[in-house]
Amino acid sequence: MSIQRVLTGITTSGTPHLGNYVGSVRPSVRMSLQPQSQSFYFLADYHALIKTGEPARVQRSTLEIAATWLACGLDPEKVTFYRQSDIPEIPELTWLLTCVTGKGMLNRAHAYKASVDKNNAAGAEPDHGVTAGLFMYPVLMAADILMFNAHQVPVGRDQIQHIEMARDIAASFNHLYGEHFTLPEAAIEDNVATLPGLDGRKMSKSYDNTIPLFVPRNQLRKLIMGIVTDSRTPGEPKETEGSALFQLYQAFATAEETADFAKQYQDGIAWGDAKEQLFERLDREIAPLRTVYDQLIQNPDSIERTLKMGADKARAVATPFTARLRSAVGLRPLSLVSSAKINKPSTAKAHLPSFKQYRETDGRFHFKMLDGQGQLLLQSHGFDSPKDAGVAIGRLRKEGAAALTPLQALLAFQAEEAPLVAALKELQASDE
Ligand code: TRP
Repeated sequence: MSIQRVLTGITTSGTPHLGNYVGSVRPSVRMSLQPQSQSFYFLADYHALIKTGEPARVQRSTLEIAATWLACGLDPEKVTFYRQSDIPEIPELTWLLTCVTGKGMLNRAHAYKASVDKNNAAGAEPDHGVTAGLFMYPVLMAADILMFNAHQVPVGRDQIQHIEMARDIAASFNHLYGEHFTLPEAAIEDNVATLPGLDGRKMSKSYDNTIPLFVPRNQLRKLIMGIVTDSRTPGEPKETEGSALFQLYQAFATAEETADFAKQYQDGIAWGDAKEQLFERLDREIAPLRTVYDQLIQNPDSIERTLKMGADKARAVATPFTARLRSAVGLRPLSLVSSAKINKPSTAKAHLPSFKQYRETDGRFHFKMLDGQGQLLLQSHGFDSPKDAGVAIGRLRKEGAAALTPLQALLAFQAEEAPLVAALKELQASDE
């Protein structure tokens, strides 16, 4: 099976709660441990700016969410874990995508439409209080996904439309400029529970009914004691169906534990005792994670370093890919226009593809590969020495297209696959 790239973002505008843990953090961490996947997890702090105008909150939430994912077992050595705003290529790609995105499509985005509907109902201007950031939200999200050519995007159902838009935007770009983007798919976790909150409605910040994941033990107990129940007295059999308490228990317990808990409901367990059991069961899973979380929160510098390392890994992909996309849309160094002309063959006879080494004004050594007509096929980043550039050229001549992936990080521009592969083959054949 080929490697699947999995990518997801977490908006940094709140404090992680039990619902986030069960619905997102826990399944994602498990998935990241599977060997056939290459995972990208990022803190969507540019998205947070759309939701909140409170700088301290964005910063605090970024810290809390990063600490949560790390405490819950995300391995930053194994996955690429980064902060969106550490990748300047993301807003750059957002613009390239903006220019191929239909405004009409954005008009139909659920979140935007909801705001307009609300305004219409209130007799206000349709766009009253709507920022262009909210309107553009799906394009920024498409850039997040397309930058890393993700195949699978694990998200909640409310985000499916955004993934569909990312596909549409990718298809428009590919149609216009060549096959650069993988079309992503939403991966909906159907077997993870949606947790009820303190009042029995879905646990959500907007209902103010959440249980934060990492409150101190005694506070967790207090919150659990406050979950709504019906008025059945001790000894009276109780319904598991529709019991928030029961659903919470189930999300943490094994099948046997859950069956036993259901039995106790039938036997008329007192609500106070049921809450006590729920609390102990939750705390059994959370306590060891909480210890790590508390240490991490005390050490923001170490989290900062972890995120910077993640950004380096992410940019090793994003920087060369953006260079390729810039070139694809026509944002190209002007020198390449002239070289294409100069190398036009004067006779009808076709030339072989060729490599050219040259030195840039920054003193570094580069190479480019041109096809027989002088069209640019590859362009490298700068090397410290001409010898290093020569080694890379040697590999390309010898191994052909197979050398492209291992050399990826050294390439600033890569033309479309088909002509490039054909030219490399041609050279390989001529060297034999
Ligand atoms: N919009 C997502 C949410 O609110 C967060 C997000 C931003 C995201 N960029 C993404 C999710 C890219 C998946 C992929 O949940």
